[in-house]
Amino acid sequence: MPLQGVLNADSGKGTINRNIYGHFSEHLGRCIYEGIWVGEDSPIPNTNGIRNDVVEALKQIRIPVLRWPGGCFADEYHWKDGIGAKETRKRMVNTHWGGVVENNHFGTHEFMELCRQLGCEPYINGNLGSGTVQEMSEWVEYLTFDGVSPMAELRAQNGRKEPWKVTYFGVGNENWGCGGNMRPEYYADEYRRYQTYVRNYGDNRIHRIACGPNSDDYNWMDVLMREAGRFMDSITLHYYTLPTDNWQDKGPATGFDEHAWFSTLQKALRMDDLITRHRTIMDKYDPEGRVGLIVDEWGTWYNVEPGTNPGFLYQQNTMRDALVAGLTLNIFHKHNQRVRMANIAQTVNVLQAVILTEGEKMIVTPTYHVFDMYKVHQDAELLDLSLDTGSYQLDGGDIPAVTATASRDAKGKIHLSFCHLQPQAEAQVTIDVRGLAGSSFTVTGSTLTSGRIDAHNTFAQPDAVKPQPFESFQLEGGKLTVNLPTMSVTTLELAAK
Ligand code: AHR
Repeated sequence: MPLQGVLNADSGKGTINRNIYGHFSEHLGRCIYEGIWVGEDSPIPNTNGIRNDVVEALKQIRIPVLRWPGGCFADEYHWKDGIGAKETRKRMVNTHWGGVVENNHFGTHEFMELCRQLGCEPYINGNLGSGTVQEMSEWVEYLTFDGVSPMAELRAQNGRKEPWKVTYFGVGNENWGCGGNMRPEYYADEYRRYQTYVRNYGDNRIHRIACGPNSDDYNWMDVLMREAGRFMDSITLHYYTLPTDNWQDKGPATGFDEHAWFSTLQKALRMDDLITRHRTIMDKYDPEGRVGLIVDEWGTWYNVEPGTNPGFLYQQNTMRDALVAGLTLNIFHKHNQRVRMANIAQTVNVLQAVILTEGEKMIVTPTYHVFDMYKVHQDAELLDLSLDTGSYQLDGGDIPAVTATASRDAKGKIHLSFCHLQPQAEAQVTIDVRGLAGSSFTVTGSTLTSGRIDAHNTFAQPDAVKPQPFESFQLEGGKLTVNLPTMSVTTLELAAK
């Protein structure tokens, strides 16, 4: 039986904020160092110390916003250690992540240069856990003050006269945990104090971001919204997908069975419920929807690759991750009224990375391909799509066989994306496309699929998993029938002839 759906192509449900396609890069393992920053003298082709291949790949997926420097690292980071001549920058131990030496060669100027090369917005996360109010305040002054001031002068001495434009600024990270083990009441007060000194200089307007809850900590959300809601522009949510409930043994990134496939997708789908419940709390204190929800850490978290530093969080990335990415983006679209940004963890070589590097070599992962296929939804109008999702059952669990989303871009093209979660069966979907007002359409498509649940790209086989042109569909009399391959992410484009 085909799954039935209805697309109201003339019924918009608001814009899908492009920042939902954001990324997160922390001083963790080989994300910043090696993955992004190789230094000006490296034999790896670079521009001002930043890898050209990585920049090109990220530009291709139109990365809109990049969060830095952490994560847990943010609440131990003292930004003044990362400015000035590189030889004199402080060396420190990265206590959270692998106990390796951090030489601070990648600092504020280098991050802003990275964002310039990428053409993306910076999202800087300040240190509330172990930094002072003055330190945070001065960072914002250093970044954005246009005029005569101690920090503007220091910036000029370091080679940058003009201020940068910085919109997104986080006031602490995971302050319920690595950011200070605070109670929500205490953090709410601290947040109010710190954000007071995060100033708007000139015409720069800071979007103040409060540290929100860990997954289902609804009390944290309630207390923050009640006590500090009016002092914030957005609040964060962190949720990671593990195949098991055991942080000591999360399961491998490859070489898993269908049980782990299923449980991972089932847990990833939890994002919908988490957002719904946090939204309900936010609605109570902010019925107008002024405060945004930013899911600034999400993605899969497995055991590290055998033989790698456990503190580096390096993991492979398979078709399973592609499905997690696609279904999560579908969920973010659905919640576009509140979810205004999301940042997958983390850009290169860490957790659900879109890029992996090994020396001068670089590959892109199945997750990367999903971001590439889905970029057509950035800033597009979400369309009203209802779908009988079917049912995929295993181990007493029951999840949708298919999830989908649809949008219309500025040129009037309609894009539909489908995530088909079943690894053993195909699925047929028939969508009644309404509201096309007599135009005739050409349909094109691409799909990401594989015969193996743990199919992935390696440095020896970089294109083992990549999107293929897709033609298994029919549009007739306003009915679009699509034959979705097993375990696949598919995007179709309907363009008026
Ligand atoms: O992304 C890895 C870590 O996960 C981040 O540093 C922290 O914020 C979260 O716990």
